[in-house]
Amino acid sequence: MTLRQPIVSVMGHVDHGKTTLLDSISGSKKAPHEAGGITQSIAAIEVPLKTIEKLCQGIIKPNQFTIPGLLFIDTPGHRAFISMRRRGGSLADITVLIVAMNEGFMPQTREVLQILRHEKTPFVVAVNKMDTLSGYRAIPLHTPLTKGIEMQTPDVRKMIDERLYSLSEELYSVGFSAERYDRVSDYARNVAMIPISAKTGAGVPDLLALLVGLAQRFMKSDLQATDVDGEATILERSEQRGIGAVANAVLYSGRMRVGDTIVVSGKEKPFLSKVRAIHRQTLGRSPRLESVDEVNAAAGFFLSAPEIENALPGGIIKVTNEQSTIDKAMEEIAFETMPTKSVTENGVWLKADTMGSLDALLFECQDAKIPVKGVEVGAVTKTEVTIMGAVKDPLVRVILAFNVPVLPEAEAISQGAGVEIISDEVIYRLLEEYAAWKEKRTHEVDEAHRKEMAHPAKIRFLPGYIFRTTKPAIVGIKVLAGTLRPPCRLIGSNGEEIGLLKGLQDNKKSIPEASEGEEVSAAIDGAVVGRTLCEGDIMYVHLNEMVVRALKGITLSPSEKEIMEEVVKIQRARTKNPFWGL
Ligand code: GTP
Ligand code: MG
Repeated sequence: MTLRQPIVSVMGHVDHGKTTLLDSISGSKKAPHEAGGITQSIAAIEVPLKTIEKLCQGIIKPNQFTIPGLLFIDTPGHRAFISMRRRGGSLADITVLIVAMNEGFMPQTREVLQILRHEKTPFVVAVNKMDTLSGYRAIPLHTPLTKGIEMQTPDVRKMIDERLYSLSEELYSVGFSAERYDRVSDYARNVAMIPISAKTGAGVPDLLALLVGLAQRFMKSDLQATDVDGEATILERSEQRGIGAVANAVLYSGRMRVGDTIVVSGKEKPFLSKVRAIHRQTLGRSPRLESVDEVNAAAGFFLSAPEIENALPGGIIKVTNEQSTIDKAMEEIAFETMPTKSVTENGVWLKADTMGSLDALLFECQDAKIPVKGVEVGAVTKTEVTIMGAVKDPLVRVILAFNVPVLPEAEAISQGAGVEIISDEVIYRLLEEYAAWKEKRTHEVDEAHRKEMAHPAKIRFLPGYIFRTTKPAIVGIKVLAGTLRPPCRLIGSNGEEIGLLKGLQDNKKSIPEASEGEEVSAAIDGAVVGRTLCEGDIMYVHLNEMVVRALKGITLSPSEKEIMEEVVKIQRARTKNPFWGL
């Protein structure tokens, strides 16, 4: 009986070491090269039994196992990627839940446990970062973990036991009974916890042996390889250089060949297509894609096919070579829809490289209460810029582009359209940049508002500077606080109107405004020097109640605020209305 590879998903809280563990198993160096050190997509990594046997020398015997290897799926731990974790979780035959020893249970650890319980997926807990314990002694290669633990000082051994104990308590509180892997008496009932160091590789062979053993013993019936028509889960859609649009998929049963007719879950409904090419990622330090004629379960692969850009992540691909079964397959493939998007008219536009990352970006935006108008996979084009140019609120006239290029023609028209394009290759940085931009823009919008509105300003009639007494009165003034921008009405310190400030001059030249400290001449219509206006008088720019209320919503300088308060006081006294301006 031939067995297929079990699918092993590696899950856990962000930064607990999932990618490092897979690097250590596959011999690649992916983790340090990820943007922001964070995994942002699901990757499938195949580890043949031969590699496992080599890594597990001294722990398992050659030819002890008959499964062809393990297919690992790396999932992101960042809280935004919940739908990707669900996909990874539901696909798995067995899961490795990673918990960093120094951090213990974290929010996504709990979330993963919920997924595992829901999917009834068996799992082991890899308690990672053992090497960070103070006094830890490096365990030599090919030393079985139990020996490696015995090698440690009593203090370190005690610490390991304590950490495992407190994890077992946490697990118990959510309904799982867990034991150190070498103390488990019944693997069908107890969850095994295994201390490892993904970084140094300590315990990793023992973890592999544990996985292979569990798979072989408990899942045999689920793992029968068959050469029936294949079925795969679509993890993501993406663009691959030199290949174009592909579906990143995992074949979980049967076989798929180039030329096969397939039914694919689509964005709106299942569609018929044909396998054009199958690509697989090579193992090793610099993985690349190679084209193959067929894949057998379980395998991760990239599928090229007509219309594959319409495939639905989380959906299914089913080989259906028999013409007569196509209708049935179409019906069978669950009609799944895109994640519900609460889109609004006045919102930002999201672009991302894959459906998974788009999902995550949308999640983060919703979490940060950023309204979203539309979402799409692919480069930023003129179309979105034009759409966004029509959005009313200038603070959301923004395209957030995650890991996708901005086409030059989109860039070229964005400024004229008043549309901001923010791009980054890390989701949380994208949101941070948007927040920073929004704050700056809010300030600018305030400024623009302020320019249109009457402004708090306080001036003094400089004694001795009377150029004309009336129609209009022209006198020398000093701006005591605020900025004076004619035309505006002026009031005295008793609240009575003095006249309309028509213009300002400095050295006989008209100027649009005068700010704090400046001495200029002012033309005031309606004022009569000596009667309604006297030398040394204080004047304020008149603010009506509506303006006062509006000004409260924008950023004023401390001195402007002070003047506004003075004006409010004056008006309350004049009108005998204690609520004036509220
Ligand atoms: P996400 O993909 O973002 O969810 O994170 P991850 O779980 O894949 O974590 P990753 O493997 O990227 O590791 C995060 C950090 O922890 C990196 O700096 C690793 O070098 C470090 N790290 C991982 N495993 C170990 C370990 O066993 N010991 C020590 N000392 N550091 C580790
Ligand atoms: Mg990772």
